[in-house]
Amino acid sequence: MLKGKHIILGITGGIAAYKSVSLLRLLVKAGAEVQVVITPAGKEFITPVTLSALSGKPVISEFFTANTGQWNSHVDIGLWADAMVIAPATASTIGKMANGVADNMLVTTYLSAKAPVFIAPAMDLDMMAHPSTTRNLATLRSWGNHIIEPATGELASHLMGRGRMEEPERIVEVLDRFFDTKDTLKGKKILITAGPTHEKIDPVRFIGNYSSGKMGYAIAEEAAARGAEVTLVSGPVEIAPRHESITLVKVESALEMLAACEEHFDSSDWAVMCAAVADYRPEHSASSKIKRGDKGDPMELRLVANPDIAATLGKRKRSGQLIAGFALETDNETDNAIGKLNRKNLDMIVLNSLRDKGAGFRTDTNKVSIITRGGERTDYPLKSKTEVASDILDTLLKL
Ligand code: CTP
Repeated sequence: MLKGKHIILGITGGIAAYKSVSLLRLLVKAGAEVQVVITPAGKEFITPVTLSALSGKPVISEFFTANTGQWNSHVDIGLWADAMVIAPATASTIGKMANGVADNMLVTTYLSAKAPVFIAPAMDLDMMAHPSTTRNLATLRSWGNHIIEPATGELASHLMGRGRMEEPERIVEVLDRFFDTKDTLKGKKILITAGPTHEKIDPVRFIGNYSSGKMGYAIAEEAAARGAEVTLVSGPVEIAPRHESITLVKVESALEMLAACEEHFDSSDWAVMCAAVADYRPEHSASSKIKRGDKGDPMELRLVANPDIAATLGKRKRSGQLIAGFALETDNETDNAIGKLNRKNLDMIVLNSLRDKGAGFRTDTNKVSIITRGGERTDYPLKSKTEVASDILDTLLKL
């Protein structure tokens, strides 16, 4: 997929810069045209001569070429690129990128680039774990940059920990996959529910759950990145969608979520029901704050059942439409998931067990099994929620 692609390879000043040589080799071998942009510190670790010989292009580092005074246009390179990869990305460069500190050619190019950007951090474990790195990476991620997470292992300091730049082969795989899936959902309209619902008790209290919305939002981003038009019906969460092809419909309660889904389902090709919908709501919600009273008597709250949104859409589904559901289980996982698949007339169900470490609510990772209506089951290892999103969309595509 990389054949003929224009790639900017940004190299910064870290020990892992030696791996950039292999990365460059692999990219060129895969048929990509690579323009290396290196920071002044990067040149302390690796020489431009090696890089220009391998890429077949002069390496860009300064704003001006010293002997001719020729200006290197960061705008032109930024527009030329189909993708920009920064590997290794040091804490310093990540900080500059997140804060617009355009004091070198690499950061300036980053700020001008319209193409998708992939960042492979590499640093010592304490730098990696520092709140400033965490915050800067979160900022970059929130702008839609792809972070290629560093691995855990032995670092240049000989300490063991998280901060090793991902291997060049894996970085090439990420890029290849990006281009491979890019337009696979062009023309598809996808309805996604995400987050918890809040069921109002009174103006200041509600019944809710721990859902963060991360899984549903990851599916929305991945679907949009692949060319789909996404309607994201979301309960109250602290995150926001980034891709411009995602239309956000904010709701609070299960009843509001149902109404939004009913409005958008008929015009959708697929629905992915990722929300953790409250099964019950208070029968009455008080219009003013319920007072504690003097006696400290027990308080009774009568709950009534909420509609099952997935099942409602399942009944309405017309031929050609597909619905994916989720099952978050603690016991009897497989039977419960298959039960839900059939009861709600879904086409596939994503099972996650709360018994698996790193799976479920509020994490950035998930470990799932996907069971399709035809009874085919695939068990996946622990992955980032973005990768899980990709597996879910691939399964829907197959169906
Ligand atoms: N779901 C829904 N509306 C509901 C409850 C669930 O759309 N009122 C959807 C969820 O988004 C998910 C699937 O149905 O895709 C299964 O949700 P889950 O909470 O696991 O199942 P329930 O049917 O609520 O069963 P239980 O709580 O007994 O496990």
